[in-house]
Amino acid sequence: MIDNEKPIGVFDSGIGGVSVLRELHAIAPSENVIYYGDSLNAPYGEKSAEEVRKLTFAAVEKLLGIGAKAIVVACNTATGAAVRLLREAYPSLPIVGIEPAIKPAVLFGESELGKKDGSSRILVMATPVTISQAKFSHLMEEYNGRAEIIPLPCPHLAELIEKGDPDSEEIAEYLKNLLEDYRDVDSVVLGCTHYPFIKKHIEAYLPMAKIFDGGLGTAREAIRRTAAAGLANTQNKISRITFMSSKEGETLELYRKFFEM
Ligand code: DGL
Repeated sequence: MIDNEKPIGVFDSGIGGVSVLRELHAIAPSENVIYYGDSLNAPYGEKSAEEVRKLTFAAVEKLLGIGAKAIVVACNTATGAAVRLLREAYPSLPIVGIEPAIKPAVLFGESELGKKDGSSRILVMATPVTISQAKFSHLMEEYNGRAEIIPLPCPHLAELIEKGDPDSEEIAEYLKNLLEDYRDVDSVVLGCTHYPFIKKHIEAYLPMAKIFDGGLGTAREAIRRTAAAGLANTQNKISRITFMSSKEGETLELYRKFFEM
């Protein structure tokens, strides 16, 4: 197989990265993709950063072992814990991570809402590990004074989504309790790739807020970096999307179901 026809490897702790895969496939349908979900070890969001790092390296090595030409770490938690070290370990490999889309939310507050005095309120929903990482603190500092950024750790939410039914009562109840105090925010950043699958429910609780997620930006960056490395697959053929999971059983069916959602 020539290098350009090799797949892009997309990885997440489980099902969440499928939200990024969907964006990637929509903008670059000719790219072959292998999606690897580490559902056996999900959720990552409540493990130690060191554990997340180890699991992320193992997943990336697995994808490289089966011929991935580029890597998308479609997990905010794994990106925060490991992307810098991955780039050091594989300097010539295109590696793209995902981080909470705070920048577009800040710009929205300033330009669309005209709140140029730092008064727009941005709620950032993410896993506890993402929020505790230095990478996240730096991101917040970058926009210091330009908006009120409210980090909201959402323990176990990815785990509930991982069960496979985004419309479950359990999730509705969780969101009701979680979002009660944030009715007046201007925007919500979905800082975990599992959350786009419950976007409509978040919108229902916070109808006045605009919702941002980093999936499309990450997909665009992955395609840009792959092309810059001379590895784009521009052949006009139907691409192959292969799903892999570290967990046996029905997980692959679930990945496909979420891909089609
Ligand atoms: N989907 C992942 C993220 O973007 C993490 C979910 C988890 O495993 O806790 O952060």
